[in-house]
Amino acid sequence: MPPRKLVAGNWKMNGLAASAEMLETFRRAHPAPACDVLVCPPATLIAGLAGRGTALGGQDCHPEASGAHTGDISAEMLRDAGAEAVILGHSERRTDHGETDALVAAKAAAAARAGLTAIVCVGETESQRDAGRAMEVVGGQLAGSLPPEADPAGLVIAYEPVWAIGTGRTPSLAEIGEMHDFLRARLIERFGAEPGAAIRLLYGGSVKPGNAAEIFAVGNVGGGLIGGASLKAEDFGAIVAAAG
Ligand code: PGA
Repeated sequence: MPPRKLVAGNWKMNGLAASAEMLETFRRAHPAPACDVLVCPPATLIAGLAGRGTALGGQDCHPEASGAHTGDISAEMLRDAGAEAVILGHSERRTDHGETDALVAAKAAAAARAGLTAIVCVGETESQRDAGRAMEVVGGQLAGSLPPEADPAGLVIAYEPVWAIGTGRTPSLAEIGEMHDFLRARLIERFGAEPGAAIRLLYGGSVKPGNAAEIFAVGNVGGGLIGGASLKAEDFGAIVAAAG
């Protein structure tokens, strides 16, 4: 049997205490999903949403466990609040906060230290794709964003072309397949056949109820990282159902 897919919702900087209701609506409609489901709300909501039957994740963490870093949140704090995973190196963090591959790798090491699954994001810009450099860029990000001691069991990789995030545009299924096959080959090269084959690869960028099933059917796509559509119970539910 193929492994269960993972559908992860990335709420980004959206959500107040009242968003618990949206999650309740989703849960009532999908009490026993056939895929793994993870919701990554803003850190302020994690503790309040924990323990209600949906796995939770953070959207970023600091490399250190504690210290004088005003405004930052550590992997240990996310874990303490009830998170099981953390998104790292999302293109919005790479752009808005100048995060480098090396910083993302340090954060991934912190996630492992705290017992969190690290969802490491990679993806090319439109001009990089147009220049025929998508694989070179994504391969470089992958190599640089994983710590030397990375444990494949605690890793998920999300391929998110920057130009597809929040734009309603997606690569063709052939392009998605090509990139996921490439990432799989790189992971097998790095971690060996079995561990490299077991790492889940997520596609992210304008996944919607209308395109989720065909994207999830592409070889080596192990699920999705969902931004905008994860904010509506009905849309998120339809995407979760498409992954079953
Ligand atoms: P989107 O975002 O689904 O709104 O395109 C995906 C993401 O940024 O993870």
